[in-house]
Amino acid sequence: MIFSILYGLNFTYFYQINIFIFMKPSTTQKLDIQKVERSRIDQVDFSNLTFGSTFSDHMFECDYKDGKWQNPTIKPYGPLSISPGAKVFHYGQAVFEGMKAYKDDNGKVWLFRPEQNFLRINKSSVRMAMPEFPRDIFFEALTTLVKMDKDWIKPGLGNSLYIRPFVMATQVGVGASPSTEYKFMILMSPAQAYYTGNVKVVIADHYSRSANGGVGAAKAAGNYGAQFFPTNLAREKGFQQVIWTDASNHQYLEEAGTMNVFFRVNDTLLTAPISDRILDGVTRKSLIALAKQDNIKVEERPVLVSEIVEAAENGTLKEIFGAGTAAVISPVSAFSYKDKTHELEMLEDSFANRFKKELLDIQYNRSEDPFDWRFEVV
Ligand code: COI
Repeated sequence: MIFSILYGLNFTYFYQINIFIFMKPSTTQKLDIQKVERSRIDQVDFSNLTFGSTFSDHMFECDYKDGKWQNPTIKPYGPLSISPGAKVFHYGQAVFEGMKAYKDDNGKVWLFRPEQNFLRINKSSVRMAMPEFPRDIFFEALTTLVKMDKDWIKPGLGNSLYIRPFVMATQVGVGASPSTEYKFMILMSPAQAYYTGNVKVVIADHYSRSANGGVGAAKAAGNYGAQFFPTNLAREKGFQQVIWTDASNHQYLEEAGTMNVFFRVNDTLLTAPISDRILDGVTRKSLIALAKQDNIKVEERPVLVSEIVEAAENGTLKEIFGAGTAAVISPVSAFSYKDKTHELEMLEDSFANRFKKELLDIQYNRSEDPFDWRFEVV
């Protein structure tokens, strides 16, 4: 039995443009483009957006069947029809990415290190026993989609188009085995700030986000869903996020909610090393590169909860901040550990502010790009 997931508007009229893209050197696949006749953009209040709840006119869809990705299509954003027996609903075989498109002051549109997201979504897929997606289709679909909906990207620091590629298991069947069919999609959502204001966090001493040998390094949908309950408990106490610690002993600091996390002790930056428990964040690795360029000492090493509590108590803990695509850089104004809250002074000349400016200047084409991170779309 098929049911419809209904969201968005119904588009009655659209027309088709066909262009050719190459799936692999040996196979040719047509990217079918079905364009909305009337854009919804006039109905959107771009000065009052809730993160991730408004979607642009078009989306990308491509199906995996009979051992290959097929029928890449850009179509009007709208409902899907998926069987309730699809494996994604039962076993959570789903991975995603988060990226952004930015518009500079001359109207040019840029992506930031999209290759990293491409590599990571495939790494996540492999971990979840899902097929990798071809590079050519990924980039052709992504750039075509961004070009088509470029009016949804407003200029000005802080405005962007959040891009959400994702893959889900669509084979019908509740047998607990990997799906043989998948859907790869890209949605796009105009965005402003993810968090408004500073973030207060609780250091986890009971719940865990990931374990050795688990899926923590994958951007698997379930990694995020599993955080909702403990995060709700933190919210009830007035904190927005949880800083996750190692699952074995809760001794080491690992990630902050949906972000990687950095600690500044005196003038040294500390962050957990990448492992199979920690997401290899694009913002994280970009900040490390910026810090090294600015001759700021960075230590990627296991960071003890006890050393951060001690640093907070002896005044050497200067900053904590989260780093991620959606939130960019989020300063932490207080953390709670075992029911004791430590407030942090919000420094004017913080590393968080400095890196945020350096990063945004590169992303919005306001400065040189010494690392070659910008990717021009149009
Ligand atoms: C991102 O920064 O892209 C994320 O993954 C956060 C998302 C869960 C909203």
